[in-house]
Amino acid sequence: MKIYITKNYDDLSKKAANIMASQIIMKPNCVLGFATGASPVGLYKQLIKYYESGDLDFAEVSTVNLDEYKGLSSDDPNSYHQFMQTNLFSHINVDPKNVFLPDGLAKNSDEECERYNKVISSLGGVDLQLLGIGTNSHIGFNEPSDSFAKETNCIELSQSTIIANSKYFDNDSMPKYAYTMGIKSIMQAKKILLVANGKGKAKALKDSLTGPITPSVPASILQLHSDLTVVADEDAFSLMR
Ligand code: PGA
Repeated sequence: MKIYITKNYDDLSKKAANIMASQIIMKPNCVLGFATGASPVGLYKQLIKYYESGDLDFAEVSTVNLDEYKGLSSDDPNSYHQFMQTNLFSHINVDPKNVFLPDGLAKNSDEECERYNKVISSLGGVDLQLLGIGTNSHIGFNEPSDSFAKETNCIELSQSTIIANSKYFDNDSMPKYAYTMGIKSIMQAKKILLVANGKGKAKALKDSLTGPITPSVPASILQLHSDLTVVADEDAFSLMR
């Protein structure tokens, strides 16, 4: 495991973007696993800058996203499809044919999970998977549980995730279920890049990186990955000093 501690969110975003950029430069037709949420927004801004300055080319890159809310269409402003359009895809030259997310409106959840697993395997797996971490240590929407979920699954969101994310939704409209790549799908990525910032993530990060490996702390499984890089700001790392 490699750990980089940065002064602040800006430095974290640049460091993490450089790691992702080097993946694209080394393998222009790589498969990137993307994440949503507040943590990666600065990293995406930096990737856009590299694209605009001619230093990065996404023409051959394929992307898969970790998760999507069940019940939201791809043009719903709160969908992760739209999050990715707004924060990254509409600003770079990624080919829409090479962009993949779970379909929140799929009629049959089991079939949708199966379809998404096949998408990932038909691409040859993920070269570099970006992850944020929830305050409850979730990765993707793999919530604390009694067992590690394997591949893509449709899960009921935990109360703490609903509290954390309901700020993005009007009234009580936040979906209660979501599709997520499973722990096995995440662990099969060749490289993993975890970003965490702010004091609110300090306990989750400490428990995940230094505590026992248990499905009640989903990100703790990452200790077993052979190529994990963590980029955290000083606040997120504060309980490990
Ligand atoms: P955040 O969410 O980046 O918005 O803090 C991370 C996560 O819940 O995985």
